[in-house]
Amino acid sequence: MKESDMELLAELAKFENSRDMEKEFKIGWSWRHVRLWPATLSRLFKDGYLEMVFRSNSYTGYRLSELGQKLVAGAESEEEATQSTSDEPIPADDLFGDIIGHDDVKDLLRACLLAEKPVHVLLAGPPALAKSLFLWDIERAAGERAIWLVGSATSKAGLWDIVSEREPQILLIDELDKMNAADTAALLSMMEGGRLVRAKRGRELNLHNQLRVVAASNRLSMLSPELKSRFAIKMLSAYSREDFLTVVRGVLASREDLSPEIADEIAQQLDGRTHDVRDAIRVARLAPQLGVSRAINLLMEVSR
Ligand SMILES: Nc1ncnc2c1ncn2[C@@H]1O[C@H](COP(=O)(O)OP(=O)(O)OP(=O)(O)O)[C@@H](O)[C@H]1O
Ligand SMILES: [Mg+2]
Repeated sequence: MKESDMELLAELAKFENSRDMEKEFKIGWSWRHVRLWPATLSRLFKDGYLEMVFRSNSYTGYRLSELGQKLVAGAESEEEATQSTSDEPIPADDLFGDIIGHDDVKDLLRACLLAEKPVHVLLAGPPALAKSLFLWDIERAAGERAIWLVGSATSKAGLWDIVSEREPQILLIDELDKMNAADTAALLSMMEGGRLVRAKRGRELNLHNQLRVVAASNRLSMLSPELKSRFAIKMLSAYSREDFLTVVRGVLASREDLSPEIADEIAQQLDGRTHDVRDAIRVARLAPQLGVSRAINLLMEVSR
């Protein structure tokens, strides 16, 4: 079973535990309730982790099968056994091994992760500069201690609920500029290490372990002055010609399994037409079918 499937099952178990299944989901929940693609659910069903409770033309209702529940319970007790490690510092040495260049950003983030008290960091700049990759790498190293959120999608559970339930040490927020007003207001308070009071239910959250926030955003103009003020803002600028060539060669050879020669050919041919690494990745993926030049011509014709 894939590790990512285990995560899906854990999410589904959390969903089921938070609901009254007998009342609300007598005929099972559907993909819309859990926000997973039907194809994913159908695969989990085929593998025996889900049970199909109901099926009509317009609704397929699932619930976790006994096997699914057992797996989640097993993983949770394993997690409890390893939780003693969660107070240890996050291993920062080999943290950004897959990111080429950006030495300043690496140094800054490593220092922030090791610092005794929080310094929040915002990576800002144009697309395809590895901003999200930095967040991914931190998430990978921090494991359960970090929560990853995408600004445009945080409204579902609400930032306040997510943080009070999971008490992370690190909050990773991608697309910060797209976060809704309620979550942004909660974030402002959390970043000051403060107590967060939720007026509606009168519940409050004390952030015991000092929360560190690492965020990414394309635009700064959308952010309020008070939010910007809470971050050390690291502006990344578009790759220079030299950087672009180095990054493309590295990414294509290591992640797209191209020979260094072809990676180099793609980097050279794209230079002058684009400095977007994603263009190079697209060319790399079509080059086996079309050849490098033809792939570039076809792809770069597509207007943006
Ligand atoms: N310096 C780099 N090292 C390794 N990979 C890179 C680097 N720069 C860009 N990439 C690659 O480019 C792609 C885009 O990176 P990523 O998604 O992190 O960009 P981003 O800055 O978050 O962009 P956006 O603002 O559009 O979200 C990824 O496949 C990533 O691997
Ligand atoms: Mg990104």
